[in-house]
Amino acid sequence: MSNLKGKDILHANQFSKKDIDVIIKNASFFEKEFKKREFLTLLKGKILATLFFEPSTRTRLSFETAMQRLGGGVISVASAESSSAAKGETVADTARTVAQYADAIVIRHPRLGSAKEAADAVPIPVINAGDGAGQHPTQALLDIYTIYKELGSLKNLTVAMVGDLKNGRTVHALAELLSLFQARLYFVSPDLLRMPKEITSGLREKGIEVVETEDMFKAASESSLIYMTRIQKERFVDLSEYERVKGSYIINRDFLDRLKKKIIILHPLPRVDEISTDVDDYSGAAYFRQMRNGVFVRMALLSMIFGKR
Ligand code: NCD
Repeated sequence: MSNLKGKDILHANQFSKKDIDVIIKNASFFEKEFKKREFLTLLKGKILATLFFEPSTRTRLSFETAMQRLGGGVISVASAESSSAAKGETVADTARTVAQYADAIVIRHPRLGSAKEAADAVPIPVINAGDGAGQHPTQALLDIYTIYKELGSLKNLTVAMVGDLKNGRTVHALAELLSLFQARLYFVSPDLLRMPKEITSGLREKGIEVVETEDMFKAASESSLIYMTRIQKERFVDLSEYERVKGSYIINRDFLDRLKKKIIILHPLPRVDEISTDVDDYSGAAYFRQMRNGVFVRMALLSMIFGKR
């Protein structure tokens, strides 16, 4: 039994290297079961509530798929406008309400710290599926599972994270997890969108080698993996700033040809223009495999918080 039973999943920093090993093992187990087309009943009788106050395709649907593949049920709020949030209800009150119906909550909300507010209000486990520009820990876990599968190991990694490192919650969470494996990190962004100082200095304090640069080609040349991100338009207060930085980094076939080596490309998706579609059939383009892995990792996490693995 793992120590996730009954726990919230709020921040990537709550995981140890050992927790990640267990999550990877469990995700591989569910991936194999899925291939056998086994019908699982592990979470029969349990209900998961997914509360999404910000747009989502993959995260919400993969959590719901994971729950249903484990034999559990799902109730869902797919937009703020369709719930009492539109009438001014607080996150805490919405969570208290949903806790009367469900056994666990997955929440996405535009405000930093909102998942923690929900978790503090209810006795059932709460999973942070993105709190503004804060954290997105389950995405980071599926990213780690994908890196492990694509490269065969989490040792001696050099990873280039590219794009909106300021507002991208996926890179905030992933950098944290990669630091457990002593990865070398390149942070590639326009000056306006640099990784928050607290994160880079926290990593350096842990002895992690961090290089901040605007040069994607140089960073890619020295990395085995590129983690591309979307410029998070919805987080800009001043849209003229968005206009200034949009399209800053684009990976296309020409870029990969110039690189003259194979590189793995991940992206949490959705993409706007940062990866051209001519890259999709490149052997290192792992972003579609990555989203598929999300279901297995979320099956692992759900079975663990319910104490079944
Ligand atoms: C990301 C998110 O919502 O933070 N998407 C996801 O969960 N796969 C990335 C993004 O929206 O750019």
